[in-house]
Amino acid sequence: TGMFTYDPGYTSTASCTSQITFIDGTKGELRYRGIPIEELATEHCYLETCYLLLKGMLPSKESLQDFDLELRHRAFLHEGLTKLFNAFPDNAHPMATLSAAVTALASFYDDHLNVSNEEEYQEMARRLIAKIPTIAAFAYRHSLGIPFIQPDIDLSFTKNFLTMMRAYPGGKMHLGPKGHEEIKEVEVRALDTIFTLHADHEQNASTTVVRGVASTGAHPYVAISSGISALWGRAHGGANESVIAQLEMIGSVENVKKYIAKAKDPNDPFRLMGFGHRVYKNFDPRAKILKTLQDELKEELHLDSRLMEIAGEIEEIALSDEYFISRNLYPNIDFYTGIILTALKIPKTMFTPIFVIGRTVGWITQWIEFKKDPTSKIARPRQLYTGE
Ligand code: CMC
Repeated sequence: TGMFTYDPGYTSTASCTSQITFIDGTKGELRYRGIPIEELATEHCYLETCYLLLKGMLPSKESLQDFDLELRHRAFLHEGLTKLFNAFPDNAHPMATLSAAVTALASFYDDHLNVSNEEEYQEMARRLIAKIPTIAAFAYRHSLGIPFIQPDIDLSFTKNFLTMMRAYPGGKMHLGPKGHEEIKEVEVRALDTIFTLHADHEQNASTTVVRGVASTGAHPYVAISSGISALWGRAHGGANESVIAQLEMIGSVENVKKYIAKAKDPNDPFRLMGFGHRVYKNFDPRAKILKTLQDELKEELHLDSRLMEIAGEIEEIALSDEYFISRNLYPNIDFYTGIILTALKIPKTMFTPIFVIGRTVGWITQWIEFKKDPTSKIARPRQLYTGE
């Protein structure tokens, strides 16, 4: 007793060794399996990134085709699981439904996995990656009280998700002034990039939860649903929803100064959502990629110029303010996703579920790494007792 290091928030504790993701927070560097995020975001698609994380290398053309085809076939949900959605109130937040549905999914698949047979783990992973977008889209459609759209085997991973979100029953798109408003390739590419940027981020809060649940020997899908619950909070993945809510609340460029003053006030709990990061103390490379993407898509996707102006003003003032400079507070990934997702006609309650879709591969890859690591132990920290 009395021999433990007190480290609230584990700011200086390495809880595992890992070969998946590398971050240099001072230089603003992020790599998956050694490959810089900039390269993955611009030269590869999300499914290639998933394969890279799971298998440790980028797929050949044939392997990618097989992987893609398998995910398309696995995107369907068991009818029994489909019934679960109706048990939730209409106004249920899709994150609550998503977490519950993934826990429920554990009851459909046996978890007696054989540690020496890596393929059993990989199959468990592919099934979950394939089904999560369907679960997320069903959760959303239930929240609107509209019929589910089944996955379409002819569509790519990302286009399929957008279709399940936006199509009318029967699979037809919204009827605009020029006929059916088909999903544009540029929209698919934008969302695909967002998924890639979210795919993994080493030992963040939700991944730490996933590994913690893994350490007790619970079902892998339960570990992931715990990760989903952890991600929901505003300090973590819930920030993307809060950023847009905050931009809407600020309402005009003139109001920005007032809210920056609130964020700086030590007696005011108000924080600028989408600012600051535990690891990045220079800039978040994912935010940089998204800012470029946002500028590229501005015209093509008719991004909301009012929200962009307010966001631009926040950035400009904060980045030259002593409070933010001295604390190394920069815009993070969540600061930029919302404006792009809004242009893709995705409502803000679905922003965190989109983070979930992208991050599932990271969680499950970390789960596999934990299981295969002979040094893994149950997560059981100690405390410094200060009571009676
Ligand atoms: N607005 C105003 N002040 C801030 C902010 C902010 N967004 N973030 C940190 N600070 C201040 C904080 O008050 C503290 O000041 P002081 O030293 O005077 O007490 C100092 O900066 C350090 O903050 P901290 O809370 O000790 O830092 P942390 O590493 O524990 O927390 C964080 C990191 C991301 C939780 C925090 O910056 C935050 O709450 N940001 C807003 C929420 C957000 O955007 N989250 C998304 C993170 S990125 C991806 C993801 O995980 O989703």
